[in-house]
Amino acid sequence: MQLLDGKFASEKIKEEIAVEAAEFLESTGRQPHLMAILVGNDGGSETYVASKMKNCAKVGFKSSLVHFDNTVTEAELLAKVEEINQDESIDGLIVQLPLPAHIDPEKVTAAIDYRKDVDGFHPVNLGRMMRNLPCFIPATPYGILLLLQAYGIDTAGKHCVVVGRSNIVGSPMSILMARNANPGNCTVTLTHSKTTNLKEIALQGDIIIAAIGRKNFVTADMVKPGAIIIDVGINRETSETTKSGFKLFGDVDFENVAPKASWITPVPGGVGLMTIVGLLKNTLASARKEIY
Ligand code: GUN
Repeated sequence: MQLLDGKFASEKIKEEIAVEAAEFLESTGRQPHLMAILVGNDGGSETYVASKMKNCAKVGFKSSLVHFDNTVTEAELLAKVEEINQDESIDGLIVQLPLPAHIDPEKVTAAIDYRKDVDGFHPVNLGRMMRNLPCFIPATPYGILLLLQAYGIDTAGKHCVVVGRSNIVGSPMSILMARNANPGNCTVTLTHSKTTNLKEIALQGDIIIAAIGRKNFVTADMVKPGAIIIDVGINRETSETTKSGFKLFGDVDFENVAPKASWITPVPGGVGLMTIVGLLKNTLASARKEIY
């Protein structure tokens, strides 16, 4: 078993991004600028956004945060999005999900100018991704592609079993792995919570991408010897033994699956760190107007 080390790969790519950000500053007199909108006080979301901001600073990007109270109305949020759309000093805008129940995430996502949609959630970007056209790819799937690329893993012709059909990870990942691209060119099966025979299907996977949000969902008896295992799960449990008060668990039973795998991502230290790299690369591409 070999580790797909998200820390190693993300640090290396961030060094490259930092060089390119410095060149951008040199030639334009400004830094790439990412704006994040956070609503409410979800612990996970606050941590993720703080990490995105910190990593922007690390690579020489400017970042700004608008933090709304849980009581913000949908109209107020949409007005803020529109204001940012018009602001030429901002290259990328993300609205951290989930949003409170009284706000429709589809409306908010569609309101973001697709040319600033560095999360790649806007219907225009999703549609262009389906057609293999230049677009912003959602950050987590993008990070997974970058991780596979960093380790030179050839995915062509392999059977990729994606577990989970979320808008953020599973659905776009299934499209990306099937595209005529590298990484890609897989035969893809998209499985989810209603799939019958999930174990039998998973056992056929040369690659398993687990993004279902359940601790230890993928067990050793579901894994073909030599499979490549990508664990997207970030399941937080309170813990008295860690400084943060939380412990993270993936969707894969790492201890028992790892000995059967050819490659596997750890949690933490795997896909989570690559997600940020995907976001940074999209923000740089937006600043340089490489896509639109
Ligand atoms: N919530 C969980 N993952 C993400 C992400 O990649 N982007 C945003 N905006 N919200 C999320």
